[in-house]
Amino acid sequence: MKIKKIGAAVVVIAMAYWFCACGEAKKPPAEKIYAGIACYNRSDIFVNKLVDCLREGFDGLNSEKCRTAVSVRDAAGSQRTQDDQVKELLDSGCNILCVNLVDRADPSDIIDLARERGVPIIFFNREPVAEDLMQWDRLYYVGADAAQAGAMQGELAADAIQEYRRIDRNKDGKIQYVVLEGEPGHQDTIIRTESAVDALKREGIELEKLGCGIANWSRAQAQNRMLQMLSLHQNKIELVLANNDEMALGALDAYAKLNYTESALPAFFGVDGTDAGLKAVKEGKLFATVYNNKEGQAQAMIKLAKALVTQKRMDMDKIKLEKNKYIYLEYAKVTRGNIWAFLKEEE
Ligand code: GAL
Ligand code: CA
Repeated sequence: MKIKKIGAAVVVIAMAYWFCACGEAKKPPAEKIYAGIACYNRSDIFVNKLVDCLREGFDGLNSEKCRTAVSVRDAAGSQRTQDDQVKELLDSGCNILCVNLVDRADPSDIIDLARERGVPIIFFNREPVAEDLMQWDRLYYVGADAAQAGAMQGELAADAIQEYRRIDRNKDGKIQYVVLEGEPGHQDTIIRTESAVDALKREGIELEKLGCGIANWSRAQAQNRMLQMLSLHQNKIELVLANNDEMALGALDAYAKLNYTESALPAFFGVDGTDAGLKAVKEGKLFATVYNNKEGQAQAMIKLAKALVTQKRMDMDKIKLEKNKYIYLEYAKVTRGNIWAFLKEEE
């Protein structure tokens, strides 16, 4: 009796399927994008905002034709945690991974996990070395060119020094400067610093380096490093080149803490154009910054993710990749003169 009932049910389902398959009413199945976003540390101001843009972008794709779901994981600075999180994201069925590596030199476990399941990876913001990206043909990188950010920062500083002679406070014809650097080993630390200094020299600025502090992108750490440098050099520092806005602001905090008067302050330069960074440029506290195009990076990742999941040739052909793997978004110079173009409307 039971067997008969099951048999009847199977016939009904088969007929319904056949009916749908032949009838005009059959719709193509909705595309499903399930993105797993793994982030190195959400306490990082710039990355946190970039991940927000990414999540919003994926949510914005959601339509009847294309269903999207997004899960974000924060590794809080541990590569082992990130490896586990990626495994969990893959187990939960995500079909595209966006990975902001904790240790950019250590992506092998993540690559192996994704490859076993055939899930492509878009790395972002923390660039793996080229050999690692060659491990599989479904690995990509979206970011920005660190040398460009450094060169722009150096050019902005050179322009300021040439225009405002008072920056050379001791009038010795040289600019005494210090550098605040991000994480050691990060592409944006080494290359931004080098190319900023190169650009200043190219513009004919004579430099004297007084010091350098590693502050891992953090405002609080930068304040401490700057306090140490100030105890050595007091009011001799004329220029502060910081690898990001947070550290430039941390340097400013150090001067504020010691009650330096405005005329004794050096010229500060950052990179990123975070909300706080842009505000400081607007108020004249930072001389200038370099905009790190998080919106553009997020959009490029979403387009690429969609093309990779749906595997539509036409979509993939529209995406311009360097060496079949890389997308680099342009940086932009931000000064008080053009800040309005970067501020949100309400500001
Ligand atoms: C850089 C950014 C820094 C920091 C870092 C993290 O591109 O300028 O502020 O967020 O990425 O990887
Ligand atoms: Ca000087």
